[in-house]
Amino acid sequence: MTVTIRHLTPGFVGEVEGVDLRQKLTRDQVAAIEAGLDECAVLVFHDQKITDEQQVAFSRNFGEIELAVGTNLTKPNERRLSTELADISNLDRDNKLLGRDDRRRMFNLGNQLWHSDSAFRATPAKYSLLSGRIVPSTGGNTEFADMRAAYDALDEATKAEIADLICEHSLMYSRGLLGFTDFTPEERVMFTPVQQVLVRTHPVTGRKSLFLASHAGTIVGWPMPEARAFLRDLTEHATQRQFVYAHRWTAGDLVIWDNRQTMHRARRYRETQEVRDMRRTTIAGDRPTVQAKAA
Ligand SMILES: [Fe+2]
Repeated sequence: MTVTIRHLTPGFVGEVEGVDLRQKLTRDQVAAIEAGLDECAVLVFHDQKITDEQQVAFSRNFGEIELAVGTNLTKPNERRLSTELADISNLDRDNKLLGRDDRRRMFNLGNQLWHSDSAFRATPAKYSLLSGRIVPSTGGNTEFADMRAAYDALDEATKAEIADLICEHSLMYSRGLLGFTDFTPEERVMFTPVQQVLVRTHPVTGRKSLFLASHAGTIVGWPMPEARAFLRDLTEHATQRQFVYAHRWTAGDLVIWDNRQTMHRARRYRETQEVRDMRRTTIAGDRPTVQAKAA
């Protein structure tokens, strides 16, 4: 079957038809999806009722899977899914809803802040593939912001000012914004800040984009309050309505996005009453955004 991509907005977000994610893809189909991601940054697939194994197999077409470890407060013996899948749900390992004041749930509420997946790792993620297995009756959308369009819309003085800036990202910074600062010494080590450039260039299209996330807590060489005020301004700019697509989930949807060109956030839903079971596979990036200086 031929893969067809219908643009939902000019240059951002495509809807894909002509592919069954349960089947092995041809090289042409994989290439068409990759080209679609280069151009649209977000691709939506409907009616894809897949198992975890099928999701992992499909994901491997796009590179190495980044294991979902070191990303939250869930301990290895509390996991519901294998480490190849990030558990984007409100369930514990017995498929029961997490309690309102469960530490893991409070930490995961940070997903409602704008971010790019794994920006808190030295080598941040390339693609994320999110499969909607059970979706709530209301709320729980995922919103995506086009960070290329946001960059393009900056004035020239700002583009010049940010060209060489380096930020420090950590899960402690994003959670700290929600007042969650209660980390153990081991968690503080796990969430040690990493450096990321503020402006990225896409390796295929050459387009520049803002590399922002709520994980960004300071700019190297800047006083922290000044850095945070500026990063907040840039985030406000980048998430204006004209740059944002809201995905309303239907069970069986799968959405792939390029973390190098987008930010996203989950939206609120009745989390202590309704199940939202989403499972994410993540494709690892190939290198840090900040190159180590030669000795
Ligand atoms: Fe995310």
